[in-house]
Amino acid sequence: MAYNLLKGKKGIISGALDEKSIAWKIALKAKEEGATFTLTNAPIAMRMGQINKLAEQCGAEIIPADATSVEDIEKLYTRSMEVLGGKVDFVLHSIGMSPNVRKGRSYGDLNYEWFLKSIDISALSFHKMLQVAEKLDAINEWGSVVGLSYIASQRTFPDYSDMAQAKAVLESIARSYGYRYGKLKKVRVNTVSQSPTKTTAGTGVGGFDAFFDYADKMSPLGNATAEECADYVITLFSDFTRKVTMQNLYHDGGFSSSGISEEIVEKMKQ
Ligand SMILES: NC(=O)c1ccc[n+]([C@@H]2O[C@H](COP(=O)([O-])OP(=O)(O)OC[C@H]3O[C@@H](n4cnc5c(N)ncnc54)[C@H](O)[C@@H]3O)[C@@H](O)[C@H]2O)c1
Repeated sequence: MAYNLLKGKKGIISGALDEKSIAWKIALKAKEEGATFTLTNAPIAMRMGQINKLAEQCGAEIIPADATSVEDIEKLYTRSMEVLGGKVDFVLHSIGMSPNVRKGRSYGDLNYEWFLKSIDISALSFHKMLQVAEKLDAINEWGSVVGLSYIASQRTFPDYSDMAQAKAVLESIARSYGYRYGKLKKVRVNTVSQSPTKTTAGTGVGGFDAFFDYADKMSPLGNATAEECADYVITLFSDFTRKVTMQNLYHDGGFSSSGISEEIVEKMKQ
């Protein structure tokens, strides 16, 4: 059921790689709720991914941009404002990648060049998207910027490796830039800390199936799906959350506040 929550709003959605991507679900929901937007992803992902199909479904133009390149991000905003006929109201950062995780390097044997890449792609890109937006004055007053995070930023999950540091930086940027952009233009900046979700990025983390099941059993409401994440993010883009900013918002079925659950106790007894 649609509520027209984003009627008349314009935005930019990054990170839709395939149908499983959280950003893919957010794009479909944003369209359903009345928004118009552009889609963006790294040029390489465009060749591998199925983003054209999504673009057709949403009537959206695709603007390739490597999120580590300030120049690409400048083009992304400039072209988006041309296509959409003005400044945007919302921006989704749904980007994450760690070469160390992808190549299975242990936390005691990290490649530091790759570590820097993880931080650049997964966290500094958030700052770049915000700084370029500010410089180009590309976001309307009361606009909303959302990045996606994971609880490994705050608690240790061994296989998450250097992505834990990247997410900690991402969440910190939301606070620092949220302050600045709030003062300047009343733009809000938040991160959503999502349950483990079966996507390309998610399942790339070692032991994913085990911690997906563990989180599901630990959370009183069970893991939040990508569709449910999309619902939540839409509310953050809407006018109903205008005073929510500088937050890391858990969207995890209660996992982050749970110590142990009956299901896990039962499992341990076996
Ligand atoms: N899947 C999970 O379990 C989970 C849980 C919490 C948070 N998240 C976060 O959600 C976000 C989206 O991930 P997802 O799970 O939908 O997986 P996904 O693999 O579908 O999306 C990750 C996206 O990042 C893009 N990307 C990588 N390098 C890029 C670059 N240099 N420039 C531009 N884009 C680039 C990829 O092309 C891809 O579209 C990520 O930030 C991820 O860390 C995922």
